[in-house]
Amino acid sequence: MMCCLVRTVRDMTDLSSKIYCVIVFLSLCKTNTYSFVSHMCTASMRISTDTEYSSTPALSEESMSIFEEMKNRLSSFERRLRAVEYPVWRISLKEEDWEICAEGPCKCVPEMKSVSCWRYNLLDLPSTQLVPADVLKLDLGSNRLSALHRDTFKNMTQLHHLDLSSNLIEHLAPSLFLPLHGIANVRLSNNLLKEMQRNQFYELRNLRILDLSSNKLRTLPENLFLSNGHLVLLDLSSNRISLLPPGTFHGLGNLDELLLGENRLAGLPVSIFRDTINLKRLALEENRLKELPNDIFKDLTSLKELNMRNNRLTELPKGLLLTLAQLEILEISSNRISCIDAKALHGMSALRELRIGHNHIKYLPPGLFNNSMSLKRLILYGNRIEILVRGVFRGLFNLTSLFLQSNRLRILQSGVFEDTPNLRKLQLESNDLSFLPAGSMDAIFTIQQVRLSQNPWHCDCRASYVASWLRKRFASFANLTNPLQIQRVLIMTGNWSIWEFGAGATCRGPGILGGQSLLRLTFHELCEGQWASMKGMKDVKLKPLKFSIENGILHNTYKIGDN
Ligand SMILES: *[C@@H]1O[C@H](CO)[C@@H](O)[C@H](O)[C@H]1NC(C)=O
Ligand SMILES: *[C@@H]1O[C@H](CO)[C@@H](O)[C@H](O)[C@H]1NC(C)=O
Ligand SMILES: *[C@@H]1O[C@H](CO)[C@@H](O)[C@H](O)[C@H]1NC(C)=O
Ligand SMILES: *[C@@H]1O[C@H](CO)[C@@H](O)[C@H](O)[C@H]1NC(C)=O
Ligand SMILES: *[C@@H]1O[C@H](CO)[C@@H](O)[C@H](O)[C@H]1NC(C)=O
Repeated sequence: MMCCLVRTVRDMTDLSSKIYCVIVFLSLCKTNTYSFVSHMCTASMRISTDTEYSSTPALSEESMSIFEEMKNRLSSFERRLRAVEYPVWRISLKEEDWEICAEGPCKCVPEMKSVSCWRYNLLDLPSTQLVPADVLKLDLGSNRLSALHRDTFKNMTQLHHLDLSSNLIEHLAPSLFLPLHGIANVRLSNNLLKEMQRNQFYELRNLRILDLSSNKLRTLPENLFLSNGHLVLLDLSSNRISLLPPGTFHGLGNLDELLLGENRLAGLPVSIFRDTINLKRLALEENRLKELPNDIFKDLTSLKELNMRNNRLTELPKGLLLTLAQLEILEISSNRISCIDAKALHGMSALRELRIGHNHIKYLPPGLFNNSMSLKRLILYGNRIEILVRGVFRGLFNLTSLFLQSNRLRILQSGVFEDTPNLRKLQLESNDLSFLPAGSMDAIFTIQQVRLSQNPWHCDCRASYVASWLRKRFASFANLTNPLQIQRVLIMTGNWSIWEFGAGATCRGPGILGGQSLLRLTFHELCEGQWASMKGMKDVKLKPLKFSIENGILHNTYKIGDN
């Protein structure tokens, strides 16, 4: 009987039959001993997992924990049942009842028309509490509520703020919010919601903020928000959403911020953002996005911030970001991007910050930044870039920070920084650089910090350019009169681990120069016995670069010149 009951309860979709079953079970619990019930549970376990029936059920640890789980499930059904059975607090239509409200047990503030039961450890709404219907703010957050009677908010047409966050709510009656014509702010985050009813937010025409984050939602019904045209912030992050129907956000013409991070989205339908034309911030980080329809962002012409960090994207095609003319921050790091179309960024002339670290980029196509005149921070660390050719940064006149650490850089072509005269911070550590060609850093007068450590610097005559450049920068810094800065310089003199001005750059070789600081070495030490290299000093050259690019993949056959 138990088995049949539990399985039936689990499979039943309609609430009233569930409730009926729970009543039967509860009466069973009351009239029988603990051991009888647990034996029944064990037996039911056997029946439901094994096809073979065992006549001597033993009480294993496993069955005890299953019993615990069933007890929890049933007590949650019980709470839901009770919540549906009884109106849980009294709602008064008389204004003078604010004084009675203040008698508790929750906290009433008549002047603010607010009622707070925040962190009261409530399992149900307190039936002794009277709540005036003209309440403006209602806080039920941080309790253990699992269900709410559908009349909980009856006649509260002026309610403005409702906080139900951090409870154990699994289910919302479809008509629960129906009376709340004035509601602007609903917080339901950190509950156990698995699904939303089609009409859940129906007629809430003044809703501005809706927080559904940290629940267990798997999808949402089509057109769920169709009558919430004033919604400004919609937070759906940290759920289990894997699928969204095309019409999910239709009608949300005033939405500013849409948060969908930390879900399980593998794709998005092409017309999903059709109506959200005023969106400023879109968060899609920590999902499983692999590929997006090329037109998906085409209506988001007001978007300023787009976050797609930690997904599975493999390319940036030409059309995807083309219409994002207002976009200022694009975060797309920790994907699998290896292929970037040369025109992929051309639509985003307002872009200030591009984060594309921790991808699989080997090659930056020339002209990529042709239209990136506003770009200030370019984050490219943790990729597989091997070579930076002259002209690759064309368009980056305003760039101040360039992060290229942890790539596989072997070659910086002379003149590569000619297009970035305003660079202040340059990180090149953890690459494969053995030298920098003469003159390569000359164009960046404004540089304040450069990191060169963890490269296999080869300290021969070719290194004397970067050594003397560093000393020159270092000397002008040392010339400062500000005591604090002088102190920093003194610390640096004794401590080469401080990275500003390339102090951490040490030589891999040759011979006894291995391990020495590049910054300390002089022309004589570097060029000792290398008179042959001397004549090439003014203009250390690379042999002509030989590489080809097929389908955006760099095929390298280049060599560093030896002369
Ligand atoms: C209170 O709500 C009920 C049902 O929602 C409605 O019939 C009734 O007219 C309301 N009373 C007032 C005074 O608004
Ligand atoms: C970038 O601009 C240069 C100079 O205007 C032009 O020759 C080149 O074709 C452009 N590249 C792209 C990919 O648009
Ligand atoms: C630098 O950026 C500003 C806006 O941030 C822009 O007005 C200016 O034209 C840019 N400079 C260049 C040379 O593109
Ligand atoms: C340091 O300051 C002195 C006097 O102000 C000046 O003559 C000298 O050129 C400066 N040195 C550097 C490297 O800027
Ligand atoms: C080296 O740098 C550390 C900070 O990174 C500092 O605490 C320490 O005093 C420095 N050592 C010397 C000898 O300056």
